[in-house]
Amino acid sequence: MNLKLGILLLLLLSLYCTTADSACRTSDGCDLALASYYVVSGKVLSEIALEFKSNILQSANSIVEYNRENVPNQDTLPSFIRINIPFPCECIDGEFLGHTFQYNVAGGDTYTTIANNTYANLTTISSLRLSNPEYTENNIPDTGVLNVTVNCSCGVSSISEEYGLFITYPLRPEDSLDSIARATNISADLLQRYNPDYTVANFSQGSGLVFIPGKGCLDGGKIRNDGK
Ligand SMILES: *[C@@H]1O[C@H](CO)[C@@H](O)[C@H](O)[C@H]1NC(C)=O
Ligand SMILES: *[C@@H]1O[C@H](CO)[C@@H](O)[C@H](O)[C@H]1NC(C)=O
Ligand SMILES: *[C@@H]1O[C@H](CO)[C@@H](O)[C@H](O)[C@H]1NC(C)=O
Ligand SMILES: *[C@@H]1O[C@H](CO)[C@@H](O)[C@H](O)[C@H]1NC(C)=O
Ligand SMILES: *[C@@H]1O[C@H](CO)[C@@H](O)[C@H](O)[C@H]1NC(C)=O
Ligand SMILES: *[C@@H]1O[C@H](CO)[C@@H](O)[C@H](O)[C@H]1NC(C)=O
Repeated sequence: MNLKLGILLLLLLSLYCTTADSACRTSDGCDLALASYYVVSGKVLSEIALEFKSNILQSANSIVEYNRENVPNQDTLPSFIRINIPFPCECIDGEFLGHTFQYNVAGGDTYTTIANNTYANLTTISSLRLSNPEYTENNIPDTGVLNVTVNCSCGVSSISEEYGLFITYPLRPEDSLDSIARATNISADLLQRYNPDYTVANFSQGSGLVFIPGKGCLDGGKIRNDGK
């Protein structure tokens, strides 16, 4: 092959790879992803179920099913724990994987309280701005519906085919690469490879989203990674 053709091919290939990285097709989605939601005191399950309502989450009971170890029933929700909330992972605008929830605003809501408190940092203020062109940040009506987008992952086959269920996990100050690796039984190296955006994969920065792989076997709400 002549050199010019070789270079052209290489160029095309790298172009293809970068677009493939940032874009998605409808078929790239997956039926299920999990959102790791940090519960603060005063939250009740029925409220969370409304905020994360989707075709796979109709009631508080669906949340109980995924969190049997931590959440014994619909009426008992311990505070200061993480729960896994199931949601569908879809290709949004051909650009990235996520799901857009419909949130019924309440008086006093701001983009900050919605991102920071209501959705426990699973979304961000800039994402809220982008998904709600009809409203301006300081002019959210007292009643109305906001689009709240939560990102997700369905895996990366070039890394491993073994993992099929991913948790969207907002980092908190108490988290570190080692603490997450220990809690999930996923090696630190694999965790970093699934989160290339964090070029140095800083799991200790106390904020930001990472994706944690699982094998899709749920046992009492805990993701088992022993392949059984
Ligand atoms: C986020 O909420 C916490 C309480 O849940 C509060 O202490 C903190 O100041 C808030 N951060 C921002 C940026 O609003
Ligand atoms: C969301 O992030 C803010 C700022 O980093 C933090 O103060 C707040 O406690 C976080 N909220 C939850 C529910 O973890
Ligand atoms: C979701 O992913 C898109 C594309 O990578 C990014 O622009 C956006 O900020 C992310 N949203 C959140 C809430 O992290
Ligand atoms: C929510 O998203 C839909 C679909 O993209 C859009 O038509 C609607 O205007 C958005 N809502 C707001 C409040 O901007
Ligand atoms: C990761 O974040 C922590 C907290 O912000 C910081 O102290 C540390 O230097 C960062 N590490 C890297 C490798 O960027
Ligand atoms: C942890 O992962 C290793 C290999 O990935 C597996 O052999 C082991 O059974 C797992 N342990 C638990 C407690 O899941």
